[in-house]
Amino acid sequence: MAIDTLFKGGKVVTDSSTFRADVAVSGGRITQIAQSIKPDAATSVVGCRGKLVLPGAIDAHTHLAMPFGGTISTDDYETGTRAAACGGTTTVFDFILQDFGEPFPDAIARRDAIAAPQACVDYSFHIGVKDVSGKLLHSMADAVKAGVPSFKVFMVYDFGVSDGVFYEVLDHSKSIGALIGVHAENNDLVNYFTEKYVREKKLSAWYHYLSRPEAVEGEADVRAINLAKAAGAPLYIVHLANAQGMEAVTRARAEGLPVFAETCPQYLHFTSDVYKRPDGRNFVCSPPMKGKASQRALWEGIANGAVSTVATDHCPFLKKEKDWGKADFRKIPNGCAGIENMYPYMLSEANKGRISYNKAVEVCATNVAKIFGLAHRKGAIEIGRDADIVVYDPKARVTIENKNMHGATDHTIWEGVALKGYPEQTWSRGRLVYKDGKFLGEKGAGAFVACKPIHLSSPDLNNL
Ligand code: URP
Ligand code: ZN
Ligand code: ZN
Repeated sequence: MAIDTLFKGGKVVTDSSTFRADVAVSGGRITQIAQSIKPDAATSVVGCRGKLVLPGAIDAHTHLAMPFGGTISTDDYETGTRAAACGGTTTVFDFILQDFGEPFPDAIARRDAIAAPQACVDYSFHIGVKDVSGKLLHSMADAVKAGVPSFKVFMVYDFGVSDGVFYEVLDHSKSIGALIGVHAENNDLVNYFTEKYVREKKLSAWYHYLSRPEAVEGEADVRAINLAKAAGAPLYIVHLANAQGMEAVTRARAEGLPVFAETCPQYLHFTSDVYKRPDGRNFVCSPPMKGKASQRALWEGIANGAVSTVATDHCPFLKKEKDWGKADFRKIPNGCAGIENMYPYMLSEANKGRISYNKAVEVCATNVAKIFGLAHRKGAIEIGRDADIVVYDPKARVTIENKNMHGATDHTIWEGVALKGYPEQTWSRGRLVYKDGKFLGEKGAGAFVACKPIHLSSPDLNNL
């Protein structure tokens, strides 16, 4: 087969090795990886000397155009995936929120009808579970058959589920090849603290943090792990942000339990101190950023493998919407932008020496594909996988400014953060979608990618 594109002379980074090689792409797939590959007459050659050749990141956690907090998150599937492409992310897992009474396959169809004409890079879904009454529980299996085997339950928010429903979903997941994710915070404690601070007229953004401090999340993490253990089911904890939870995950994994933790760049970079800032409301998300000890525990978890993935929880809102809560933290829509910043930030931390590039690739791409049944297509520079490729310039120096970002949000919590190195080019299934600060992709060119059922016996999950 003729070579369409040849990435020549770069250093290929996988989750476990780094080596000098050329990478050939034909028909949107990686077809050869070798020391020296000769281009065909019509091959377009991408010179990669001095650059790293990486798999595109997979963002395991986004909320695009999601009705939430009295509004709709600012980025839709077009602007969100455009921003993703410009930050080296070539696949996003977006959260569908099931409607009450809605069978899960209908939820997929409802959201895919919106996503398909808009997406600039490939996407898949998780489904946020609200209702498993009657026949709905059994419609989970139909979602798995449709290529969406991952579900998330919320222990908080007005649509959160009881521990009984959580257990029921965990128990059911085992027989249908599904993985249950959880947003773990103790709802009763959140309500208790919130009511207390409202009574005391303490309503600044700092009290968002104090109403959901370390123990609120840690207790729920421990409980979620206990429920998964009791059900004999695997568990994926989303946006883990605290040390007690990290310890619980580490202990569970040492016992051999299939518990996977995801954290987010905002928890790795910021601490709860941001809520004391005059613009603290812009950082309001749940769970909130925690103290330094939690941040240290998360970085340790990344280093020792207790954290399996890093994802954004991208859920942006406009400044004017964040301002609803200027005088009352309860009115601030929860969530922050990050879809364009995750891979550049994690790679910059690698470039600065905190982690290896291999680790950044592992947590931002390879492990995500393995856990969510996507390793047949995505997550590695490997023959046969989609040519989702990032050419990374370790010498670039970029300070993040919202005016240079490619989403629809009018501010970013990452403003002013200095990065060492930056993605120079992003390729999605062999198509150039980003180069030198410019989006070059196309609305609607991204496609839904079906995930395989998630079984613990799969070789991908065995050694994670
Ligand atoms: O604050 C957040 N994280 N907003 C998005 C919804 C969620 O809980 O993931
Ligand atoms: Zn959540
Ligand atoms: Zn989320």
